[in-house]
Amino acid sequence: MHPPAEALLAWYDRHARSLPWRGSRDPYRIWVSEVMLQQTTVAAVGPRYARFLARFPDAAALARAEWAELAEEWAGLGYYARARHLHRAARAIAAGGMPRDAAGWRALPGIGPYTAAAIAAIAHDEPVVPVDGNVERVMARLFAVEAPLPGARRALAALAEGFAAQPAMRARPGDFAQALFDLGATLCTPRAPACALCPWRAPCRGHAAGMAAALPRKAPKPPRAALHGVHFALTDGAGRLLLERRPEGGLLGGMLGLPGTPWRARPWEEAEAMAHAPLPGVNWRPLPGAARHILTHRELRLRLYAGATPRLPPGMESLPAREAAPALPAAMRKLLRLLGPGAGFTGA
Ligand code: ADE
Repeated sequence: MHPPAEALLAWYDRHARSLPWRGSRDPYRIWVSEVMLQQTTVAAVGPRYARFLARFPDAAALARAEWAELAEEWAGLGYYARARHLHRAARAIAAGGMPRDAAGWRALPGIGPYTAAAIAAIAHDEPVVPVDGNVERVMARLFAVEAPLPGARRALAALAEGFAAQPAMRARPGDFAQALFDLGATLCTPRAPACALCPWRAPCRGHAAGMAAALPRKAPKPPRAALHGVHFALTDGAGRLLLERRPEGGLLGGMLGLPGTPWRARPWEEAEAMAHAPLPGVNWRPLPGAARHILTHRELRLRLYAGATPRLPPGMESLPAREAAPALPAAMRKLLRLLGPGAGFTGA
């Protein structure tokens, strides 16, 4: 038996978080919010969302934009493949129209079942339940599912979808989805869930069994493979920093970065790395430490050499130190931090 959707919706009516994307049901705006929220926290998306919409107010504007503009606007949000997909999907929408249901959204690049369901529920009132890690946790607890993730994923999704049989859910699918997100974010949290305040406390089997906090169980994860790289921070007499657009198709493809070696499993010897230095004849100074940055399946470990040259060669990309950090992806900003606070890379 599923607990009543009414109880959750009544709780949501009193306690919904006020979030920037909640005022509108415009499918474009909902789509952008859900893509941003795929791998970025609500707190980090908040300020970036309005800025993105001001720059790209609708799908047509996004479709017309150059990739470099979008990449710049996305800087720091991470998982750049999302921005690529957003761009391609905007062009598909400009040509073929806005999808009207989950199946239509699912057909666009970068939109999996979760995002398609979230958009369809919120923007189109389709009675579907988007299942992310938060919703999986709520379901595992509600139904005391002890099988570990990721194996239990299908079973948890089926339990979530079971709510669509209830008329109260079918009357407000978008609110139901967002109520589940809020419950997972504010009460049914990974550690120390606030069961005393939960609208589903009475029917929650995990709570009754005293194991809510221990669920969902997780199978041990294989460690992330490490990737090593060496980069070069070269500044000129005018305080400009040499940058390079990263090759399309690879990690952080198409984004600006510091020039350097390719990223590979084996650490680089200094002499080997120097073959990738951007200019000959620079006196390179190794900086202590390394920048560590997690990508989906990899851990980057990047080292940095700093150098100076009177004048950067014409035709190479560069930015004033002050403007460099905001234009760079997080991994590169972490590298700039190795230069120390005196280096003038504000925002790094
Ligand atoms: N996470 C993903 N989508 C969300 C939404 N619409 N509201 C809050 N958190 C979310």
